[in-house]
Amino acid sequence: MRTRMSKNIVLIGFMGVGKGTIAREMSKQSELYSLDCDDLIESLENRKIRRIFEEDGEEYFRQLEQKTAKWLEKNVKNTIISTGGGFYKVKNLKKIGTIVYLQSTFDAILERILSHPNSKRKLEKRPLLKDLKKAKSLFEKRIKSYEKCAYIVISTKDKSPKEIAKEILVLFRIFSKQV
Ligand code: S3P
Repeated sequence: MRTRMSKNIVLIGFMGVGKGTIAREMSKQSELYSLDCDDLIESLENRKIRRIFEEDGEEYFRQLEQKTAKWLEKNVKNTIISTGGGFYKVKNLKKIGTIVYLQSTFDAILERILSHPNSKRKLEKRPLLKDLKKAKSLFEKRIKSYEKCAYIVISTKDKSPKEIAKEILVLFRIFSKQV
């Protein structure tokens, strides 16, 4: 059975946990569109996130996230939204949709990135993953906040993107296809 959804589903979680992959898998299984906040920012600025950080700094990037959050709140519905790892800080997060936190450990995230055939690119495109020690302390600082923001917490441990996507959609009762 398929239930219509009017609010968006917003995926939050640390860099590299698989928010984008899971959002696309959810689209495939539900026939709902998905979009990615970092993609929206890159298209608005016509440059890569890495270049925005290099040329204008993190603070400017955070302003772009807030601007994107306002735009999403006003213009987007019935959509699966994947976010950057720091997007949870936007002021209107809960007004955009129902927040789903994709939970993992730092080591599992690192392993996921490093085992990817294009791992070098995956690391390069994320300025805050350059220094792994700093990234780990950022992870530890953020996990409590992710949990606080979330309506639903999904453990990604030992699950494929397909399984995680299905789990979320079943929770929202919008699973529409056999996979
Ligand atoms: C960031 C995560 C990145 C991207 C930017 C900042 C963060 O997105 O938005 O590099 O602050 O955690 P991903 O979570 O998709 O890697």
